Amino acid sequence: MLQIKNRETAKLSPLIVSALLATTLTACGGSSGGGSEQSSSSSESSSSESSSSEESSSSSSSEDNTDGAFSIDPDFQLYALADFPVGVAVSAAGESYSIFNHSDATQRQNVITEHFSELTAGNIMKMSYLHPQEDTFTFGDADELVGFADTNGMTVHGHALVWHSGYQVPGFMENYEGDFAAMLSDHVKGIVNHFESEFPGTVASWDVVNEAVDQGGENGFRQSLFYNELPPASEGDIPEYIRVAFQAARDTGAEIDLYYNDYDNTANDVRLAKTLEIADGLAEGDLIDGVGFQMHVYMTYPSLNDFENAFQEVVDRGLKVKVTELDVAVVNPYGGNAPDELEYDAALAGEQKQRFCDIARVYLETVPAELRGGFTVWGLTDDESWLMNQFRNATGADYDDVWPLLFNADLSAKPALQGVADAFQGNACNSDI
Ligand code: XIL
Repeated sequence: MLQIKNRETAKLSPLIVSALLATTLTACGGSSGGGSEQSSSSSESSSSESSSSEESSSSSSSEDNTDGAFSIDPDFQLYALADFPVGVAVSAAGESYSIFNHSDATQRQNVITEHFSELTAGNIMKMSYLHPQEDTFTFGDADELVGFADTNGMTVHGHALVWHSGYQVPGFMENYEGDFAAMLSDHVKGIVNHFESEFPGTVASWDVVNEAVDQGGENGFRQSLFYNELPPASEGDIPEYIRVAFQAARDTGAEIDLYYNDYDNTANDVRLAKTLEIADGLAEGDLIDGVGFQMHVYMTYPSLNDFENAFQEVVDRGLKVKVTELDVAVVNPYGGNAPDELEYDAALAGEQKQRFCDIARVYLETVPAELRGGFTVWGLTDDESWLMNQFRNATGADYDDVWPLLFNADLSAKPALQGVADAFQGNACNSDI
C-alpha cells in the first residue's frame, strides 16, 4: 500500500503572491460543448455542437490582471486538503517553462511545493528521453526532477513506460530484430529499478501503458509498433505487449502502483469499454492497480454523469482511479468556438471554478478513499498548456490562450483553484468569484 510522503518533514518554501492590478472587464463569455477529450495522438473528432452564451461580467471581489486573468489569494495549501496525491505536470531540463531554468523557476517551484504533493513529468520521463538506445539509459534530467520531488517530500507519478506516440518512441525499438518481449521487459525494468534504487518510494506509481485504445483500429486496439510486435495471443485477449509491460513492472517487486492510462474514456462508451477490457485482462493476473483518466475536458463536455459512471466502473473492479492529466479548456474548438470568440471574463472564470469543483466533487463522491489514486492537472500556468498547440494542429487556427489550468501566467492562483479546494473541503460548488 502506498503512503503519501510526509510533507511536514519537507523543506517548503513560502508562496510568493504577486500583487495584481485591479481593473474592470466587461466582455461576452461562452461555454463550450461537444467534441472528444483530446490527446496529442488523437486525430479523432467527434460530433460537435456549438453553444454560446452571452453574459456580462458580474461584479467581483477578484482582481484581474492586465491580460484579463482573475486571481485569488489562497489561504490554503491545496494538497493539504486531500488525503491522496494532488499532482501537477511540469516541464524540466531545458524545456520551455522548465521548473529549473525558466525565468521564473524559483517562484514556479514555490507555487508547486505550496499546492501540490506529486509531480508528473510532462515529457522528460517518456520512453526515448530515458532510454534512447538499447544499451543506454539517460536518467540525468529525470533524476533532477525526481530529486526535487524527493527533497520536497513529494511523490512522482511516472509517465509513461510504453506509449505509441512517435516523437518519444526510441528509434531502436522500430524494426527491432531481437526478442521484442524481452527487450520491452528490460526497458520497463531498467527504468523502474533505477528510480526505485536511487529514490526509494518517490516514484510511487507509473503509467505502464498509455493510450492503447483506438476505436478506429482493428478490434478497438491501437495498431502501434508495440501491438504489431506483440498482438493479442488469441482472439478476445488484450494485446500481449500490454501484459508483458505490466508483468515486467510487477516483477521488479517495487512497491509502486501500476496504471493503465487513456483519454476520451469517460463520455465515449466504446473507448471506456475497451479501457475496462484492458483493466480486466490485467486484473486477472493481479498486474494492475488502477486506471488513469487523462481528462482533457471542456466546460460542459463530458457531463458529470459521464465522469461518475466511468469512475464507478473502475471502483466496482476494486481498482484505483487516478485523474492523471486534467485540464478544462474554456474554449472548445470542436464545439464551435473560434479562437477570437471568447474573452476570459469574470463570468467565465466563475463557471470554470464551478466546473473544476464539480469534477473534484464527483471524484470524491464516487471513489472511496482507499481507491483514490490522485488528482493531477496537466500543467501549472495557463500559458504553458499544451492545448494551444494541440488545437492549432487540429484546426489550423491560432488559439492564443484557452485558460485550462489553475494558475495564471504570472503564477497567481485562479478562482479555479478555489473550486478544487472547495470540493476537497466538502463545500458546495459555486461560481462566485
Ligand atoms: C503532451 C505534452 O504535454 C506536450 O508537451 C507534448 O508535445 C506532447 O505530449 N496525453 C498524454 C501526455 O498522455 O503525455 C501528452 O503530453 C498529452 C496527452
